[in-house]
Amino acid sequence: MIDVDPREIIEIIGRNGADAPLISVLEEIQTKYRYLPREAMILVSEAFGLPLSQIYSVATFYNAFSLERRGRHEACVCVGTACHVRGAKRVLSHLEEKLGIKAGETTPDWNYTLDTVHCLGACALGPIVVVDGEYSGQMHAKKVDELLARIEQADEGEA
Ligand code: FES
Repeated sequence: MIDVDPREIIEIIGRNGADAPLISVLEEIQTKYRYLPREAMILVSEAFGLPLSQIYSVATFYNAFSLERRGRHEACVCVGTACHVRGAKRVLSHLEEKLGIKAGETTPDWNYTLDTVHCLGACALGPIVVVDGEYSGQMHAKKVDELLARIEQADEGEA
């Protein structure tokens, strides 16, 4: 579980204004925490005067929201047909092995969440891996290693 500071949630709600669309508030919370923590949902429910179930039904309707904590980096492998025939399965297996998790899981250190997607609309570049919104095409094991090394290096630079 991640620590949620109620003051931060109240600040987000306040900054959006009393008449703000619920979705804007949820988006901001999602951006901050990379998911919608239950504590935050309760505060939003109280602030909007809406049942918690209603907040959850909005949150579960949109794919952009996650109710589970996500990794710091979000990696996604396209396993659509075009990427599949170009070796997406091998790329996915390699990523799973490197990260020590299966698709749909998050590393225990919360560094990566690994997902799959069915076609990103850039089939000619397959197999495609997207990390934090950045597309990498024609992927293979060595390029995956280079990509992960670059991310690790950038993370170390930030620390
Ligand atoms: S199948 Fe991967 S981008 Fe279309």
